[in-house]
Amino acid sequence: MTAHLLPPTDRTTEHPAHRIFVDRWSPRGFTDEALPESELLTFIEAARWAPSSYNSQPWRFLYALRGSAEFDTFLAPLIEFNRGWAQHAAALVYVLSKKTFIPAGKTEPAPTRTHSFDAGAAWANFANQAALSGWATHGMSGFDVAAAQTALGVPDGFAVEIAIAVGRKGDGEKLPAMLKEREKPSARLAIAEIAASGLFPKSFGG
Ligand SMILES: Cc1cc2nc3c(=O)[nH]c(=O)nc-3n(C[C@H](O)[C@H](O)[C@H](O)COP(=O)(O)O)c2cc1C
Repeated sequence: MTAHLLPPTDRTTEHPAHRIFVDRWSPRGFTDEALPESELLTFIEAARWAPSSYNSQPWRFLYALRGSAEFDTFLAPLIEFNRGWAQHAAALVYVLSKKTFIPAGKTEPAPTRTHSFDAGAAWANFANQAALSGWATHGMSGFDVAAAQTALGVPDGFAVEIAIAVGRKGDGEKLPAMLKEREKPSARLAIAEIAASGLFPKSFGG
């Protein structure tokens, strides 16, 4: 079994899932280390092997490495809170999804109900491959979607799903006190709160 390179966390599990899924978390403090483009493409390689409805592969990735001409364009749509820490990321990535696909045997595009869901599966692969390679990722829905769509030149047939900050996890020293406090792996709901054998249980809530 390949050892993963993000430091282990003290997160505990109820069942023995692989630690790669358990130890991935989303820090906001990054070192100055640059992310080689080939490394980023490895995360995208993992992402493109995600399953998708009809194998429609609706995910698309736009990326800007820190120091590139486009980095500030990618940073600008983020809400101020996210810009504060994500400006130090080694790369910013936007995950898009194509809202239509061409069904097998057809020539005309049809809408797909699952383009966002499928892109979510790709993002998970991306994040876990990054963790496996010792890089931290932090997903962000906190951005102006219309501004991102315009700034990145994304046509209407695509949804801008999330932005991702990627970097080598740092010690968080440069973060404001409020964020430094939150710079640790979070907890999860118990299995009994999210999974049930059979019909929808009262315990899930109304
Ligand atoms: C789709 C998505 C959107 C998120 N948006 C933001 C965001 O805008 N700003 C932020 O600081 N964190 C954001 N997060 C990070 C989540 O808060 C974080 O993943 C969650 O608290 C679980 O923590 P963990 O990833 O460290 O395990 C987002 C995560 C996801 C998956």
